[in-house]
Amino acid sequence: MGISHSFLPKFYEMSKAIKGFSKLTKEQKIDWILENYFTEKEAAKATLKQYWNENAKLQQTHDEFIENTLTNYYLPFGVAPNFKINGEIYTMPMAIEESSVVAAAAKAASFWMNRGGFQAQVVSTKKIGHVHFVYYGDYDKLLKFFISNKAKFYKDTETITANMRKRGGGITDIMLINKGYEEPNYYQIKANFETIDSMGANFINTCLEQFAQTLKAEMDASDIFTEEEKDIQIIMCILSNYTPECLVRAEVNCHVDELATEGMSGLEFAQKFERAIHVATIEPYRATTHNKGIMNGIDAVVIATGNDFRAIEAAAHTYAARSGQYRSLTNCTISEDGQFRFWLDIPMALGTVGGLTTLHPMVKFAYTLLGNPGAKELMMIIAASGLAQNFGALKALTTTGIQQGHMKMHLLNVLNNLGATDKEKDFFKIYFKDKVPRHSDIVNKFNEMRSNQAN
Ligand code: MEV
Repeated sequence: MGISHSFLPKFYEMSKAIKGFSKLTKEQKIDWILENYFTEKEAAKATLKQYWNENAKLQQTHDEFIENTLTNYYLPFGVAPNFKINGEIYTMPMAIEESSVVAAAAKAASFWMNRGGFQAQVVSTKKIGHVHFVYYGDYDKLLKFFISNKAKFYKDTETITANMRKRGGGITDIMLINKGYEEPNYYQIKANFETIDSMGANFINTCLEQFAQTLKAEMDASDIFTEEEKDIQIIMCILSNYTPECLVRAEVNCHVDELATEGMSGLEFAQKFERAIHVATIEPYRATTHNKGIMNGIDAVVIATGNDFRAIEAAAHTYAARSGQYRSLTNCTISEDGQFRFWLDIPMALGTVGGLTTLHPMVKFAYTLLGNPGAKELMMIIAASGLAQNFGALKALTTTGIQQGHMKMHLLNVLNNLGATDKEKDFFKIYFKDKVPRHSDIVNKFNEMRSNQAN
């Protein structure tokens, strides 16, 4: 009989804690992990090692992306061809573990390639950051000070912004925001940035930290403030991942007659599709799943191109809730003359230089595949991927249902888990050709087949 964990003496639990772990070598870290968390130590070590790259230099590159690296964690890297975006044909690189996503992207891309393709445009590219601070004094005085010292904030960041300005970017505005109506004495210096082809996180945060120093120094030197008023507290300096004005739109359109499908007229399909979008616009439970499907397409390309998918996710969901309720990121209309329009508006702060873009060999591969786009072009490519994914999901959901296609892709995963041979996989593909391959049905048939073979 096992002993409940909570009854273990304290020192047993303490053996799972360690001081100075980061100072150990990789081998020592692995040994410590195996010693403290695994009974089958050799098997666990082999699992870690089978993902090491034989090329020591490449492995070192990977090790140095993060801290305390033990091994690599692989995602499949697939491609979806035939994306026609603003008249150009792209093959979409997609890094994702979920079956059906790449297939859905490829299917939607081909569908729309024959109907004019995707039109995309970058609406705006503004990025934002704040110095959050507390000031115990008169707002008018602070505002007067800020206006007369605004140029100093630009001046003190000139060396930081020099390269960015050469590339056409930099700080585009700095303003003082009074948030006292929400939290007494809370103020912000809010700045807008243009970071061209880089995501710009380090650049923005460095500028903001300089703003905080300038604010403090100039207030100290000013004779309009009392000693108490000069005693401001800088809470923090940080960019915002909410970038509603770093926005991209991807759109498809055609006459409803071109949408006829699965025993439905084009108009019937378009109207059902529009209703599905409306449900996701008014019902947050559906909106969450609907937008998750969009992010299947977005994240896969964001990851393949070495961008920060958490930042893109965070911005997308805040944007989806900008009305005060979480809603669909896509929209759809059918005009009186039968024109179907379907589009996605999504904030997309990303970079095509810096970060992983020059370090990760697969990221480099993905950029070459896409023709080395700049940030604006990549924003449009990724938005098209999100729109395609949503089209594929809604088309399946409003016609055949999602399980038919999904489970066929899932069949392979289940068979791989069962350890099926290639011959067995071929048999199962044929066996389930006209049936929905439910998990239990696959397992039962597989067991039956194996026991027949044994007898
Ligand atoms: C599954 O990963 C995504 C979907 O649920 C999206 C949707 O329901 O729109 C199919």
